[in-house]
Amino acid sequence: MKLFLDTADVAVIKDLLPTGMVDGVTTNPSLIAKSGRNIAEVIAEICALVEGPISAEAVATDFETMVKEGDKLAAIAPNVVVKLPLTWDGLRATRAFADKGIKTNVTLCFSAAQAMLAAKAGATFISPFVGRLEDVGADGVGLLEEIRTLYDIHDFDTEILAASLRNPDHVTAAALAGADAATLPTDVFKALVKHPLTDKGLDAFLADWGKTGQSIL
Ligand code: E4P
Repeated sequence: MKLFLDTADVAVIKDLLPTGMVDGVTTNPSLIAKSGRNIAEVIAEICALVEGPISAEAVATDFETMVKEGDKLAAIAPNVVVKLPLTWDGLRATRAFADKGIKTNVTLCFSAAQAMLAAKAGATFISPFVGRLEDVGADGVGLLEEIRTLYDIHDFDTEILAASLRNPDHVTAAALAGADAATLPTDVFKALVKHPLTDKGLDAFLADWGKTGQSIL
């Protein structure tokens, strides 16, 4: 499963790139606002750092302006993925971009029916929001499973990009549900490697090693 960083913070991306685990980056209007930077500048900088798909979101709500915005975002770099909302205009724009070979990420997906429409529109990625569904008492991981089943039955090749993930258990659940990718906030990405028994075990090994007085180098 591919792991994307869900951030527009270039310093964070630079910090985590050496892990070799960053396969792409997603942004949204809230993350761009949080960065305090110009969208074109920050997306260009991220695209130069990370080879994989970089999602940049259109903010218009009508088809014509969405297409203009998407064209402008896609022109920033070849690895830009135009992110579009799950509305009729967003789906129409998704089809327009698919027809001209521009990748898309259809966002704000909260149902399998919506995911089916995105796939029919030719979306490259569908982003189901796991955490926001759980916030309202719904089954976010169940949605990932439903979409996986639906896409497999109908042979859709749209990739499932699990989004709005709040903890490492969400990431594991997304992987087990068959998501193709997951986008992670920085804290969740960093927490993935942690286990208290790993820390405890390492401390014990190092304490015992210290008693030997040896050096490997
Ligand atoms: C990514 O594409 C989404 O914009 C993001 O995962 C939303 O996460 P949130 O629900 O924590 O804002």
